[in-house]
Amino acid sequence: MSEPSNWVTVARRAELPAGQVKGVKVGKQEIALYNLAGELYATDNVCSHAYAQLSDGFVERGQIVCPLHAGCFDIKTGKAVEPPAEDDIKTFPIRLNGDEIQVAVD
Ligand code: FES
Repeated sequence: MSEPSNWVTVARRAELPAGQVKGVKVGKQEIALYNLAGELYATDNVCSHAYAQLSDGFVERGQIVCPLHAGCFDIKTGKAVEPPAEDDIKTFPIRLNGDEIQVAVD
């Protein structure tokens, strides 16, 4: 896979402490940013089950727990791992550029 070229700055490093999730928007795309012990990840911020923002949920054992019905997704892969969530969520490339957190969206 080639390196994406459409990086967008969405937050500063200090806004996303370890163990936390933060919701941002790039155009109409809602994205959840995660810091798992210093490693950054990004997924769709909208639950695949009904409408809830995953950034209102909480991070537990590498998973994001949906605030509405407690469905869970693997943060690294976007895989739905706990019902009622069944459909996986999209993940996005994420990187640090100096102090800035950047994601690449289609
Ligand atoms: S809206 Fe997320 S589990 Fe139902």
